[in-house]
Amino acid sequence: MLSEKMEKAFNEQLKWEFYSAYLYLSMAAYFDSINLPGFSKWMKAQAVEESMHAMKFYNFINERGGRVILQNIDQPPTEWESPLAVMEFALAHEQEVTRRINNLVELAQQEKDHASQIFLQWFVTEQVEEEDSFGSIVAQMRLVKDSPEALFMIDRELASRNMDFTALSGEVK
Ligand code: FEO
Repeated sequence: MLSEKMEKAFNEQLKWEFYSAYLYLSMAAYFDSINLPGFSKWMKAQAVEESMHAMKFYNFINERGGRVILQNIDQPPTEWESPLAVMEFALAHEQEVTRRINNLVELAQQEKDHASQIFLQWFVTEQVEEEDSFGSIVAQMRLVKDSPEALFMIDRELASRNMDFTALSGEVK
């Protein structure tokens, strides 16, 4: 059984994961508006992944006898000054996600909730991957600065992101 504190914190994180999906979809829409289909496809894939993260919290709350309470999701930003600004914003967002996951781990420790600690380990590992994938793109873009040719190359590379979510979809019940 989840404690009241854990249930509240997990519901908050569930919302935050859906906000992340919304944010990345908004970034995809920005990239579509400036004709960068590869960046857009990459962000759409990221949005789907975030929805799967949210569903992991949904399922876990239920499995532990808690109650899922969906909350309002804020409107994400819609405009950025450049493609680099978008990716920097996304990286900072992932760093914030990591901070929140770490806070949940600490709360689970305080609550002596071992099942939640084990559940959260998946997210601790996932955040290392998330920060690394956003960080690598930001580093590449900073390297080439405003070169349109390089941006076009990166766009083509990002277009090759695999949209197969079978590994994650097994989590959705
Ligand atoms: Fe659900 Fe990108 O962290």
